[in-house]
Amino acid sequence: MGRVTIVVLGHRANADGTFTLEDLPGSGGRIDIIVRSIGASFFLSRDIRRNVVFYAILMGGNTAPKTLMVRGDEVRYLNPDERNIAALIRHALLKPSGPEWRRASPGIYVREGGLVELLPELENIVILREGGEDIRGAPMPHNPTFVLSDKEEFRPEELEALRSRAVAELSLGPLSYHTEHAIVIALNELDRRGEDP
Ligand SMILES: C[S@@+](CC[C@H](N)C(=O)[O-])C[C@H]1O[C@@H](n2cnc3c(N)ncnc32)[C@H](O)[C@@H]1O
Repeated sequence: MGRVTIVVLGHRANADGTFTLEDLPGSGGRIDIIVRSIGASFFLSRDIRRNVVFYAILMGGNTAPKTLMVRGDEVRYLNPDERNIAALIRHALLKPSGPEWRRASPGIYVREGGLVELLPELENIVILREGGEDIRGAPMPHNPTFVLSDKEEFRPEELEALRSRAVAELSLGPLSYHTEHAIVIALNELDRRGEDP
């Protein structure tokens, strides 16, 4: 099984870790979307997708931007319930960070910087966006990197930067789906294509 990288742009997601678990959407700048996207990226019914690397670009709050990385091949203590995932993220974001990756817990890392810093490190970028080419029948690169937005549309400067490096811009279907649902659909497409997507 090849590697799959998932990047979610959290336009207002709180990078400080100062959000409360009682009100993730409000206090966290819709960090609930990031939390559910992590669940969607890793959890199968009785297993975890070890071949997935997940990045969230957190653009809200005083210390933004920061990038959160979750590695399926290393992560531990991650459970499907949202509160558990949110607590792990908050713990990671509250730790002092710098421009280099710092490990907050097994498989969970944070660094300062956002899409500009991450983009050169990504390979085989596939922008997932309503209006793209239908994913069914479209060629899929090996080890793809799927990039998705959160509740907000991609910003023009983000699209421009992504398009300068992307190998494809694909649509998952005729409707606009929640980010975490779009992740499941895209991973399901890879599952159906088998070992060699
Ligand atoms: C809730 S949507 C974004 C909001 C939406 N663009 C809007 O403002 O009407 C979340 C993200 O999931 C992905 N997505 C949702 N539906 C999709 C589709 N049909 N094809 C490809 N990606 C999709 C895109 O990355 C999108 O930005």
